[in-house]
Amino acid sequence: MAKIIAGIGTSHTPAIGAALDLGKTAEPYWAPVFQGYAPCQQWMEENKPDVVIMVYNDHVNAFDFKIIPTFAIGCGDEFAIADEGWGARPVPVVRGYPEFASHLVQSLVLDEFDITIVNEMQVDHGLTVPMSLAFGQPKQWPVKVIPLAVNVIQYPAPTGNRCYNLGKAIKKAVEAWDEDLKVVIFGTGGMSHQIQGPRAGLINTPFDTAFLDDLSRDPKRLVNIPPIEYLREAGNEAIELVMWLIMRGALGDKVDEVYRFYHVPASSTGVGHIILETGEYHRQRQGKAAA
Ligand code: DHB
Ligand code: FE
Repeated sequence: MAKIIAGIGTSHTPAIGAALDLGKTAEPYWAPVFQGYAPCQQWMEENKPDVVIMVYNDHVNAFDFKIIPTFAIGCGDEFAIADEGWGARPVPVVRGYPEFASHLVQSLVLDEFDITIVNEMQVDHGLTVPMSLAFGQPKQWPVKVIPLAVNVIQYPAPTGNRCYNLGKAIKKAVEAWDEDLKVVIFGTGGMSHQIQGPRAGLINTPFDTAFLDDLSRDPKRLVNIPPIEYLREAGNEAIELVMWLIMRGALGDKVDEVYRFYHVPASSTGVGHIILETGEYHRQRQGKAAA
């Protein structure tokens, strides 16, 4: 049976991808950011997931304003890297898993989540920056990826509660897949940021810290934050944080926070990162370490 073993929360700030691609990781501005993600790469080395479900948002690259799906799952064999205006990032093509992705769509639709099936799409920084932060710069990505794109660009974005419940349905769907796979789910975007208008540059560190705290301590509080409150408190683009609640919902009630990183500034984003192991997987790991 396939199992979700952990959830990764991470910002997907495009400038981080550019810094990596342009060889600037050791520069004083960027070094702390990349150091903050070294434990994530080590975690991936140690735990070797087979499949990543990447919950992210497209930034008007795969979808323009003609069609805006609220939830879309990529069912293709592979996903090309989008050119966001300055050339595609020099990262490997993203390999999908059509059979498993189609199973997830079927299970989610039967569970009354209206998922858009996307057989062909390009993926932008929302997906590729988290891949780079978690896996570095390999020739090929070491995992298959199922992209789950969420609309947080055009009002109305889905509520945190809807996202959390979608996560729960994803857990059920994964566990109904009869193949031994280690699955890691990412929730990307955020944390606080506003990249336009008079409040551009807004960062709310207490908001971000409380959000990180409550992912394990009190997810019910997060689930009940109305969408408008993200915008008011933590900037227009902080609404991306609802995607972390899909990740959180997919982990079950009990989680163990094994790593956290928070850093300001990176571009104009409060950069947050967390690794949450499911309670079951964490106990299994601790048992192995003790043996
Ligand atoms: C920026 C863009 C994003 O999509 C994001 O999540 C954070 C920052 C930016 O343009 O700086
Ligand atoms: Fe974004």
